[in-house]
Amino acid sequence: MKSCYATRGFLACADPASELTLGEPFEVLDQVGRSLPSLLLENDARDYLLKVHVPDWPYINIPDDLWPQACLYYVRLGFIASGYINQVGQPACHALPTNLARPLCKIATLLQRPPILSYDGYALYNWKRFDLKKPVELGNIDTLQNFVHLYDEHWFILVHVEIEALAADIVDAVVGLKATLNKGPQDLTAKQVDSALDRVAVAMTKIIQVLQRIPDKMSDDLYFAKFRPYIGQFKDVVYQGVNIEPISFRGETGAQSSIMPLLTEFMKIPHQDNKLTRHLYDMRQYMPHDHRLLLAEVRAMQDIKMCASDEKFDAVLELMACFREVHYHWAIKYIARRCNDQQGTGGTPFMRWLKFLIEETRAHKCDGSHGTVVA
Ligand code: HEM
Repeated sequence: MKSCYATRGFLACADPASELTLGEPFEVLDQVGRSLPSLLLENDARDYLLKVHVPDWPYINIPDDLWPQACLYYVRLGFIASGYINQVGQPACHALPTNLARPLCKIATLLQRPPILSYDGYALYNWKRFDLKKPVELGNIDTLQNFVHLYDEHWFILVHVEIEALAADIVDAVVGLKATLNKGPQDLTAKQVDSALDRVAVAMTKIIQVLQRIPDKMSDDLYFAKFRPYIGQFKDVVYQGVNIEPISFRGETGAQSSIMPLLTEFMKIPHQDNKLTRHLYDMRQYMPHDHRLLLAEVRAMQDIKMCASDEKFDAVLELMACFREVHYHWAIKYIARRCNDQQGTGGTPFMRWLKFLIEETRAHKCDGSHGTVVA
């Protein structure tokens, strides 16, 4: 897919497609996708869904001009598959029927990703603008696909989308420095590094303000009981018609967004290697392929700490820590207060390690002060 890091960050260059235009047989996916929130209220939704004739992706690859179509095809199928397996109020299910499993696996292979709905399908490709002349921001965007008839779910997704749009400046600043370094490290001036850090800081400040808006239109009760279960993991699921052995995949989580991993690699924050940070690293498999490649390139970039002014370097770390702190409070409000097992969306003991991440972000500052420790 074509990336426009400077203007769009990790969102695609073009706005997502909002309907499938691959031919009449594909209309069924739009129809079932749009009806999914109603279907999932019915006890016999699984009976209905396993009879839907889902046409295979019609090409052996993804032609350049059809990327938005391929993404929407994956969004619709990914939502339907997760709705089928994780339907609220129904017994656990460990078999995805052939009519859904085969086409989902085929498009997932072409997208070079696991066959489950991830952050890309849930947020990055799942929005439209009301007014194309206005920015990608709350108030001007809506979702294309949902699990439930609750605006709270739209809001949850759309907050992520605006954050991704705001991150364009971060991605552009980092990619710009990377390009200068590629020409020759001697070409990199302290002024360029500081100016990139300033851009990151301005964008992070706006991102934190948007993250703080989560409770404006999202109830913690509804999130936890009504729509969070749908983005849960697939545990020991047989993809019928594809493989006989049960297989497990992580659920959708903001940990599959590339923004914080990009900044972590750029700032070279030495997070301790443990089971939990390995989980975060594992989340990269669920990111779009070109984002994974960019993360690897930024990981290989020279450390800019020595070239930066202490004040600007520390300001970015403090903003990252603030983002993680606000986020930590949402994790408490929306999840931890309600369950005993402290398991995150991806099946991790997240409270402990979300806290480590905040502390380690501050510990990397030049001034050596660790700031506030989360209570
Ligand atoms: C009610 C709102 C939210 C809740 C309850 C929540 C919950 C969680 C949980 C439980 C994890 C642990 C990951 C896992 O279990 O796999 C996580 C990680 C993460 N989430 Fe969220 N999240 C929320 C909103 C967001 C938003 C809006 C973003 C913005 C992109 C985001 C970005 C992240 C990131 C980057 C991580 C990895 C940890 C880090 O790097 O600090 N989350 N989230």
